[in-house]
Amino acid sequence: MKIGILKERRAHERRCAATPETVKKLIGLGAEVAIEAGAGIAASIPDAAFAAAGATIAGNAAAAVGGAAIVLKVQRPLRAGEGELDELALIPRGATLVAILNPHGAKEQIPAYAGAGVDAMAMELVPRITRAQSMDVLSSQANLAGYKAVIDAAAEYARAFPMMMTAAGTVAPARVLVMGAGVAGLQAIATARRLGAIVSATDVRPASKEQVKSLGATSVAVEDEEFKQAETAAGYAKPMSEAYQAKQAALIAETIKKQDIVITTALIPGRAAPVLVTEEMVKSMKPGSVIVDLAVEQGGNCPLSELGKVVEKHGVKLVGHANVPSRLAADSTALYAKNLLNFVTLLIDKESKQLKINWEDEIVKGVALTKGGQSIHPAFQAQ
Ligand code: NAI
Repeated sequence: MKIGILKERRAHERRCAATPETVKKLIGLGAEVAIEAGAGIAASIPDAAFAAAGATIAGNAAAAVGGAAIVLKVQRPLRAGEGELDELALIPRGATLVAILNPHGAKEQIPAYAGAGVDAMAMELVPRITRAQSMDVLSSQANLAGYKAVIDAAAEYARAFPMMMTAAGTVAPARVLVMGAGVAGLQAIATARRLGAIVSATDVRPASKEQVKSLGATSVAVEDEEFKQAETAAGYAKPMSEAYQAKQAALIAETIKKQDIVITTALIPGRAAPVLVTEEMVKSMKPGSVIVDLAVEQGGNCPLSELGKVVEKHGVKLVGHANVPSRLAADSTALYAKNLLNFVTLLIDKESKQLKINWEDEIVKGVALTKGGQSIHPAFQAQ
């Protein structure tokens, strides 16, 4: 059973779907691993390290995935016209593709997987159940993004984060507001606290309140009846009503004026990110303040942020880096590759050492978009 790993070719992508450690473990499961030459370079993993772990280094993409039963990637494969190579066309019929496939944003790709006879598994759909925690790519990557957002903010901010009392005077601590206290937001709070900032945070899920407080931050939230119901059974936020959004906006407008740094992380799966920081709010902030919009790829929590850019508007710097986890490519690769290893372990029969997918498994059902040429995921059936 061959597992093929492709080099990532999409813009801003530095991660890789394997590490030497996961290659060793995949081989331990009975697989033969082929990895495209240069696949790990941007994540600081030379080909020699993969070879030392037992992988075959393939000279090109076709050789890496030719004859593979499983293909591992970070992002969805390129199709004809999307880049230098039609990666999907190289994946053998009947192979299982495991990657972050962005099924909400790239729905049109689902029939293409079916047409190519590829069983496509979208890792961002891993259900949030205890057994699947070690496969949860959204958590592993969002945690790093939350950390990096604060580091990026610190780099753009022309003042210090901690309070400093010196003979020449006192430097005031930075005030940081984190909007969206999920996985990324909680790590942002912890990181900003470690740097010495005074931190507050806002979310619509009541469960976030205690978590925010336990990290030493102040919770700023509109706590009405709707707030009490804002969490779905899957642990995500619901879209909030216009009335709630208006109340939230009024509270944020008061809070944001006093902030130096705002980190926004608010997302709702499958929808555009909610707008939380309006242009008026940006105008009310002090000159030199910084907003890092981690939701910029989903439309942004602030309409003024621009994807892939750091821009200055109304005296405020707006940071909109694309693919923030990839900016910490070595760590995000290590965690992502581990998530994939844990998922692939579920697909391989320990005795026969062959691919044996239990299509009734809750985790497989959660992620499987296509099977045997059919689109099977109930949430992604063509209307
Ligand atoms: P996410 O990335 O979808 O959203 C980020 C945050 O934005 C969430 O906390 C959400 O409530 C918040 N948000 C959405 N709309 C908002 C609005 N209008 N205003 C303010 N905030 C808004 O969510 P994430 O971070 O992936 O996970 C959310 C929660 O799920 C976690 O905090 C955790 O409690 C739970 N979780 C459970 C796991 C498990 O049981 N295996 C694993 C990971 C997370």
